[in-house]
Amino acid sequence: MSGTALITGITGQDGAYLAQLLLEQGYQVHGMMRRSSTETLGRLAGFQDDITIHQGDLLDQLSLVRLLEEVKPTELYNLAAQSFVPTSWSQPILTGETTGLGVTRVLEAIRQVDPSIRMYQASSSEMFGKVQQTPQTETTPFYPRSPYGVAKVYGYWITVNYRESYDLFASNGILFNHESPLRGLEFVTRKITDGVARIKLGVQDKLLLGNLEAKRDWGFAGDFVRAMWLMLQTDEPGDYVVATGEQHSVREFCEIAFGTVDLNLEDYVGIDPRFYRPAEVETLLGDPSKARHELGWEPQVTFEQLVTMMVEEDIKRVEREIKLGS
Ligand code: NAP
Ligand code: GDD
Repeated sequence: MSGTALITGITGQDGAYLAQLLLEQGYQVHGMMRRSSTETLGRLAGFQDDITIHQGDLLDQLSLVRLLEEVKPTELYNLAAQSFVPTSWSQPILTGETTGLGVTRVLEAIRQVDPSIRMYQASSSEMFGKVQQTPQTETTPFYPRSPYGVAKVYGYWITVNYRESYDLFASNGILFNHESPLRGLEFVTRKITDGVARIKLGVQDKLLLGNLEAKRDWGFAGDFVRAMWLMLQTDEPGDYVVATGEQHSVREFCEIAFGTVDLNLEDYVGIDPRFYRPAEVETLLGDPSKARHELGWEPQVTFEQLVTMMVEEDIKRVEREIKLGS
C-alpha cells in the first residue's frame, strides 16, 4: 500500500518530477503552492488533475499546520525554497525566512500534528561552497558562499536536530545541481539551452553569461527525485549526498549545447560582469557512494544526454512560440 504524500514547492522543477514519480508509485499526491495572481501550475501539465493542490506558504505557520491536519500525509517532501543563488544577495532576509526558518516551520507542524510523518528536506551542495575537500561526501565540512547556502546549512542542521531531539523520521538529501527541460530559465543550464535554441532559430543574436570556468556536478532532475523517495523508504532516517560523481564547467556545457546544433560558442557567447557573483562557488563534485550502497540509487541519464535533451526540448518550445507569434 502506497501512502499519502505532500510536496511543498509542487510548482517547481523538482515538484513536477517528484509528483509524477509518486503517482506512478500509487501515492495520493497533494501539493502545496503559495497564492499568486498569475498561473504557476504550468510544470504539472498532463497530470495536474491527478494531484490535489492546496494553498499554503512556508512563511505562514498556521497554513502548514492546517494543511497537515487536512491532508494527513504519511510522507512530506519539503522542496519549497527561494532557490536562486543571486536573488539571495538581493533578498537575504526573505531567503533566510523561507529557505532557512521555513524548514523549522515544517518540522514544528509535523511535531504538532503527527510526529510519525516522514520528512525529506531538500538540502544542497551549495552548503559545501568553498569546498574543504574533493569530492564532497556526507562528512565534508560546510563553508557556504551565499545567503542561500547559509540558509540551507541552517535547514540541514535543524532537520538533524529535530531528528535527534524528537525522534522524527527526517532525512536530508544533499543534492548536487540537477537540471531538465523544466528548469527555471534563470539557472545557467536552461539559460544556455534556451539561448542556443533562440540563436539557432534566428530570434536571438548573443548569449551573455558570467563565470564560464565554474564547475558543477550536473545530473538529471528525473533521476534525482528517485533518490528523494528512496530516502523515505529506509528503516532509519539519515543524510545522503546525491550526485553523478562527474564534473563539467559552464564552458563545457556551452560547447556541447552549441555543438548539438552545429554552432560554435565563440561566435555567440559574451561575458557580462552583471552575472558574476559577490562570492562564487568555483567547483563542486559529489561522491554518491552512500546513496549507491544504502539506497541502491544510480543516475541513468549522462551529462551529454542531459544537455541534448534540454536543447531539443527548447528548440521545440521556441518553434511553437514562433508559430504562435506569426
Ligand atoms: P524551484 O524550481 O525554484 O522551485 C521552488 C519552489 O518553492 C516553487 O514551487 C516555489 O513556488 C516554492 N516556494 C518559494 N517560496 C515559497 C514559499 N514562501 N512558500 C511556499 N512555496 C514557496 O526549485 P527546484 O529546482 O525545484 O528545487 C527544489 C528544492 O531543492 C529547493 O529547495 C532547492 O533549493 C533545492 N535544491 C535544488 C537543487 C537543484 O539543482 N535543482 C539542488 C539542491 C537543492 P513558486 O512557483 O510560487 O515560485
Ligand atoms: N545563473 C547563472 N547565469 N549562472 C551563471 C551564469 C549566468 O549567466 N554564467 C555563469 N554562471 C555560473 C554561476 O556563477 C555558477 O557558478 C554556475 O554557473 C551555476 O549557476 P546556477 O545554474 O545559477 O546554479 P547554482 O549552482 O548557483 O545553484 C543551483 O544549484 C544548487 C545546488 O548546488 C540552484 O539550483 C540551487 O538552488 C541549488 O541548491
